[in-house]
This record gives sequence, C-alpha cells and structure tokens, in this order.
Amino acid sequence: MPAVGGFDKGNGKEYPGNLTPYVLVTCIVAAMGGLIFGYDIGISGGVTSMPSFLKKFFPSVYRKQQANESTNQYCQYDSETLTMFTSSLYLAALLSSLVASRVTRQFGRKLSMFFGGILFLAGALLNGFAQAIWMLIVGRLLLGFGIGFANQSVPLYLSEMAPYRFRGALNIGFQLSITVGILIANVLNYFFNKIHGGWGWRLSLGGAMVPALIITVGSMILPDTPNSIIERGRHEEAREKLRKVRGVDDVEEEFNDLVAASEASRQVEYPWKNLLQKKYRPHLTMAILIPFFQQFTGINVIMFYAPVLFNTIGFGSDASLMSAVITGIVNVVATMVSIYGVDKWGRRFLFLEGGVQMLICQAVVAACIGAKFGIDGNPGELPKWYAIVVVLFICIYVAGFAWSWGPLGWLVPSEIFPLEIRSAAQSVNVSVNMLFTFLVAQVFLNMLCHLKFGLFLFFAFFVLVMSFFVYFFLPETKGIPIEEMGRVWKTHWFWSRYVGEDDFVPGGNVEMHKGSNATKNV
Ligand code: BGC
Repeated sequence: MPAVGGFDKGNGKEYPGNLTPYVLVTCIVAAMGGLIFGYDIGISGGVTSMPSFLKKFFPSVYRKQQANESTNQYCQYDSETLTMFTSSLYLAALLSSLVASRVTRQFGRKLSMFFGGILFLAGALLNGFAQAIWMLIVGRLLLGFGIGFANQSVPLYLSEMAPYRFRGALNIGFQLSITVGILIANVLNYFFNKIHGGWGWRLSLGGAMVPALIITVGSMILPDTPNSIIERGRHEEAREKLRKVRGVDDVEEEFNDLVAASEASRQVEYPWKNLLQKKYRPHLTMAILIPFFQQFTGINVIMFYAPVLFNTIGFGSDASLMSAVITGIVNVVATMVSIYGVDKWGRRFLFLEGGVQMLICQAVVAACIGAKFGIDGNPGELPKWYAIVVVLFICIYVAGFAWSWGPLGWLVPSEIFPLEIRSAAQSVNVSVNMLFTFLVAQVFLNMLCHLKFGLFLFFAFFVLVMSFFVYFFLPETKGIPIEEMGRVWKTHWFWSRYVGEDDFVPGGNVEMHKGSNATKNV
C-alpha cells in the first residue's frame, strides 16, 4: 500500500495505460460540457447589441442608441439592468459551484453534469420565450446554476478519466470546447440578427438548449470515473472500470493510488482549514491570484461585449457581429497553438509571451480609440482603414490570451495542488474566477462610460503586473509529475520560505484529522 497521498516515490510515476478509443470518445463527450459555458459567453454580448432585443427589454438603452449623434458614444450602453442581464449568471455560477462540489463528491461527477445540463436547459427555455425582464434574469440565473455544476464536474471528470501523460492536452480540451461554444454563438448571432421581424434573439437565447441537451444526454450515457466509484466504496467494480478505461490489465499501482487518494480525502475533516497552513501558502496564493489575473486581462470585455464595443467605436450592428465572429475564430485557433506548445515551450514562456503581446495591443487600441474619439466620445465619420487596424489589434490581443492566460488559467492550478487540498483549492480557483468574471461584466459598461479609452490602459496595467508576477513568482511546472510538484516550491527563491525540506517528502506527511465520521457516500 503506498503512503497516503502517493508521495512515496522519488521518481515520476508511470502508470501503464493507453489513449484508448473508449477514453478518447468519453473525454470528447465530457469536454462538450465546456460548450454551455462558451455558448453563453458568446451569445449574451451579441444579443445585447441587437436593436430589437434592446427595444423590447431595455428601451432607454435603445433610445440612447438611436439618438446616436447627440450622446456620448462611450455611454450609450451604460445601463444597470443591461449589465445585470449579463453578469447575474456569474454570481449564480459562483454560488452553485460551491454546492456542486459536494454533489460531485458524494453522488459522482455524472450527476453534477446532469444537473448542469437540466438547469441550463430550463434557463434556455425561459430566455427563448421571455416576455418580461424578470424572465430574462431568472433564466440567466438558471443558466448560471447550470454552469456552476458543469464547470465543477467536467474538468474533474476529464482529469480522472485521462491517462496520466495526456492529462494536459485533455485538460485544454475543455478550454477548446469553451472557445468553440463562443464561436458558434457568435456565428448564430450574426445570422439570427438578420431575421426579419426582429425575433432572432429568441433563437440565439433558446439555441442554448442544444448544448444543454448534449451534456444532459452525454451525462446519462457516460461511464462513471473509477475514482468516483471508489469513493462510493465499490472497489472491485472500480478496478474493472480502470482496466477498461486504460486498455491494459496491469492497473494495480494506479488503482492503489486512487484508493489511497480517496482515503486521504475522506480523512481530512477540515479541508478549508488545512489550506491555511503555512506550507500551502504558495498554493493558496496561486488559487486566488491566477483566476484573478486571468479575468483582469480584460478578456471578457471582448468576449461579452465585442459587438457592443465595435458598435461603440462606430461599426454598424452587422459589422459589429461579424467582427465578433472573427475574434471567435482567432480564439479557437490560438487555443490549438497552446495545446501543441504547452508541453514543449512550457507554461512560463506562454504566460510571458502572451503578456507582452496583450500589453502592446491594449496600448495601441487605447491610442487609436483615444485619438479618434477624444474625451467627449464624438467620432464623426470613421475611416475604414482605421476600423481594420482596431479589429486587427484586438485579434492579436485575443490570440495572446488564448495561448496563455486562457487555458493556463485552468491548467496550472489543477496541476500544482497536492492531493489533500486539491478539491478545496480547486473550489477557491473556480469561485474566484466566477467572482471576477461577475465584477468585470458588472462594471465594464460603466467603466467604458467613465474611463473612456483609458479602460484599455487600466487592463494593460494589470497585464504588466501579472507578467512580473509570473516572472518572479510562478515556477515552471512543465513535465513535472503532480506527485513531485513540492520540489518546485522548495527550490524557489521566494516560496522556499514557506515550504521547508520536510514538507511534501517521500513517505508523505499529509496533515490528517483522524476521527472523521466520513463513511461511505450514498
Ligand atoms: C475564461 C473565460 C473566457 C474564456 C475566453 C476562459 O478561460 O475563464 O472567462 O471568457 O476563456 O475564451
């Protein structure tokens, strides 16, 4: 029996196992859980720039937009209810991801995914048939609850199913499906906006039913992960499942580690308190700062509000939606670059390169918009070449994000947490991400109105800070087995103050609180 936590080896573990068709298909179906998140990110911005939608639900914004010439461009979309429409979802997702972590642990990943699909389906229906603003907001809350469940369980499911050596690529598969969801939503918005009679937004919002059905049905046919079966005490069934998933008979070492992992996590009675110990300081710092920084790249200003933003700087409604399609394509393609390069070039290289790229683009976009609109936000006629330059730099910025902070913001936290704090730390990561997604969505239109082109400089400042942070404080994690991650902190110029030689050593010294009454789940 290996020591608790699997810290018993000096060398990297080599669990036997192949990338079997079974596991590949399973992971592709599960990764589609990212579609509901992506679809939503992409759909709301487009819908909120459709005149017929604004006219029905946000008449004051619609009037401001129609009276275009006389008002300040920067402020035409500034409306509290409009912002609430976009951002309410993330608050709901934050709350439900906390609940979901319990469901996921006690009843299995599949049930959380199923809940995610059903809640999202209900939200899509309510939004598609919305007659009043309350239906829109309640619908979005339901969508948010669904996303909280899916985002909690899908990445976990993928990591548990994936063979050890392919975990990185399969993890970014989730981000890839987020970006595909965003792109599909952008394309649909573009076409649905053209529908005569102005009811296209109903199709955009109601269309969320399709990814919802995929994940709902998918969760019913997907197998449970061996880990989840062990957690519920059915060891023999789990061993068989592991053999099937890995495509080899010799799964003993991995199986024993999964059992040990499950025992360890049951015996930690206070995972949150555990997280506050000194030796977990680097992990806690990363669990908070990585998602915080990811959101302060300002990416969701583009993802949620690209059409609104393009509209603000003088594009027509159609051209704005088309530009969002272009940024959506760039997002997908650049994510693939990351899948290719993340284990070759390393995380730090991608973080730093992406940071410099985003910084330059933000400065250029701020200068372009500032020069043209000035402080009063009155542009007059906008030359075509000028619009092309702005869209081009926004695309280069999106590419920079999509191969750095986008996928790595999810990947790096998932690979640095030692087993005994993994689930608690991952919850911190998801919640902080949702909290700052909410805040950026909530204050963006207001900030655009007040900071004007300076908004881009505001985010550029944070990109500078986060790049310095990566340079000085984030160790390279490429090619290091999770079980041995402890050594990156011990040898780090700063973190070695918190992580001593005796921490995370072979033999394991997992802090456990005996006497837990955690017994079999379900
Ligand atoms: C982020 C989202 C963002 C998306 C863009 C994700 O990693 O968490 O907030 O909208 O990337 O592709």
